[in-house]
Parts: sequence; C-alpha cells; structure tokens
Amino acid sequence: MTTVAACFSRGFFQPAVYLDMMKAISFYDTKPYDRDAMLAAEGAAQMEWRFHEFRLTAETAATAAGCDAVCVFVNDRLDRGCLTRLAEAGVRHVALRCAGFNQVDLAAARELGVTVTRVPAYSPHAVAEHAVALLLTLNRKIHRAHNRVREFNFSLAGLVGFDLHGKTAGIIGTGKIGRCTAQIFRGFGCEVLAYDPFPQHDWAAGHAVRYTRFDEVLEKADILSLHLPLTPETHHLLNADTLARMKSGAYLLNTSRGKLVDTTALIGCLKGGQLGGVALDVYEEEEGIFFEDHSERGLLEDDELSRLLTFPNVLVTSHQAFLTREALGEIARVTVTNLRSHLDGLPLLEGTVL
Ligand code: NAI
Repeated sequence: MTTVAACFSRGFFQPAVYLDMMKAISFYDTKPYDRDAMLAAEGAAQMEWRFHEFRLTAETAATAAGCDAVCVFVNDRLDRGCLTRLAEAGVRHVALRCAGFNQVDLAAARELGVTVTRVPAYSPHAVAEHAVALLLTLNRKIHRAHNRVREFNFSLAGLVGFDLHGKTAGIIGTGKIGRCTAQIFRGFGCEVLAYDPFPQHDWAAGHAVRYTRFDEVLEKADILSLHLPLTPETHHLLNADTLARMKSGAYLLNTSRGKLVDTTALIGCLKGGQLGGVALDVYEEEEGIFFEDHSERGLLEDDELSRLLTFPNVLVTSHQAFLTREALGEIARVTVTNLRSHLDGLPLLEGTVL
C-alpha cells in the first residue's frame, strides 16, 4: 500500500514525521503555486511529499535522508558535493521541474548512479509570449503609462515607442521556445533572422525565417532575443565585444539564462546609451534573489542588479516566463509521472532523462 502525506518546512533541517520513508519525495524551493500544481497532478496522492521552502545545496542535502527522490528547480545547486550527499542519503532520482539543467553536475550524477530527469518542454508558448510581453511593455512604455494614469497624469511626454512591423527580430537558438518567439514576431510583420548551430531548415522555410551567421543576427537585429541553453560555450555570449556590435538602439531580450549576458558589460553599454532597451527575465546572480520577497528588508545587496533597476529602459521580471497555468500543469504531469515510474521501476518518459 502506498501512503498519502505532505508536509512543509520553512527552516533548515526541520524534523517531520513521515508515513512511508521509502516513497518520499523531498521537494525544494517550494512556492505555493508549484506545490498546488504538483499535488493536483494525477498520481501525486500516491506519494509522500516533503516540501521545503529552502533550496537544495550541499549544505541542505541531508534533509533528503530517507527519500527516494528529490524534486528541484532552477536555483537549487546540485554540484558534486550535493549529489554525493544525496547519494549517501539514499536518493536515486533527481527530478528537475524545469527544462534547463545547468544547475546539475551530470557527470557526477552518472558516476553516483543518480538518475536525472527534466521537463524538456512544458509550454514554449508561455516563455515566448512573456518575452514578447516584455518587449511590448518596454517599447510602448506601458509600465510607465500605467503608473502615470493612476496618479491622474495623462501626459504622453516620453512615451514614444516604435512599430514592430517591418523591424528585424534576431533569434539566437531556434529550439522549442525560439521557434515560438520567431513565429510571434513574424505575426507582427517583422523580418526574422535566426542563428542556431543545428538549424531547422524546413521550419524556417515554412515561416519565412532566414538562418544566418551569429554575427549577422547580432549586427542586424533591432530586437535580439536569446533562446539558447547556458553551457560553458554560451557563458557570456553577450559580452563587451558582442554587445558593442549590436545595432545602435537595439532591444535585448533574455528569457533564457542570466549568465548568457555579462552584466558588467551590459551596464557599461546601457550607460553609454547604445541599447534602446533591455528586458530580462533572468539575471546572472539571480540565485537567492529571484522568487523571494525582499521588500521588507528594503535593500538589495547585489549592486549590479540595483544599478540595472535604475535604468528607465530596463525591465526585469523574476524568472516568471514559465508561469502559466498550462505550463505548471504540464510540469507537474511530467514530473509526477517520472517520479512514480522511477519508484515502480517502470520506463521514464521519453526525452526526459539527462
Ligand atoms: P531547446 O533545447 O528546445 O532549444 C535550445 C536551442 O538552442 C537548440 O535548438 C540548440 O541547438 C540551440 N543552441 C545551442 N547552443 C547554441 C548556440 N551557441 N547558439 C545558438 N543556439 C544554440 O530549449 P528551449 O525549450 O527552447 O529553451 C531555451 C532556453 O530557455 C532553455 O535552455 C532555458 O535556459 C530557458 N528557459 C527559460 C524559462 C523561463 O522561465 N525564463 C523557462 C524555460 C526555459
């Protein structure tokens, strides 16, 4: 018989009583919306959930003792030290409830015999639509207009934007999200240039998207949108040199991973007035800042993020591009299916094992 239990801890190493230790899932960086979505997924009630608000790191890995699996998100840190402690604690499965997997030392996981799964595609539309929402907000200054009218200031001074129609959108990375984003831009009447080391020529022909060299996309795009994974090769893809080669007045959108952009160089570029606008859903040092409410403290210790927030042409959201009902439901479905299958020794969903 399987057991049903869910408990929740805020601090580190909070003791809890579990009904069936060997069917337990230790769940980290829990937020109310992902806990609700996870518990609503089919099959979730047949497992025991240990929800923790804190993140999983080598220091907190002991909290997974007695669990078969851990379920983690983008800012948990599964380095060799953490994975070693998990393996020692008996954990055999790391279920990432996200697509990106740069936070996991996969080589170490393999050596330790820990299976790592992810949710490769939950809703590429959610992320693509958020990228475009950020651009529209920034370009048409909706955030500023909204604040103004609420104070009965109906002036239009300083709110001039530009038509997207006829502009060139550059897409770096034409995987699931990049393709959706490109298609939205085509819908606006933009010319779309794309770069990907593994181009999808049939798709491009079908949507009048033109693949070209990275340099050409960088230099011709009025809007440059990043949709590629973070790897050692793509770390700081946008740096002082590449940012300087972007078109004057261009807009940069990053909904992929913060470390794709060198923040110091980006701030220099913004100070020089070269870029028209920058929309970031991800930030190089977001770990420990994003997903949390720091408003009561009233200060940010991260000087570069603080500086970014002072530019009127910079818009930052807190890694929320994935946050739609559809995406949360799909993340929960795939994660719970894999967690159950792993426990029962059944095959895992195709394309989810790293
Ligand atoms: P995907 O795996 O479908 O596509 C990634 C594409 O990037 C592939 O076509 C690949 O060939 C390409 N690529 C790899 N190296 C490249 C390079 N050096 N230059 C250009 N292209 C390169 O991934 P998907 O689902 O489209 O996700 C893209 C990224 O979006 C993820 O890696 C993740 O970091 C981010 N993401 C962000 C979310 C958010 O909430 N902000 C949510 C989901 C994903």
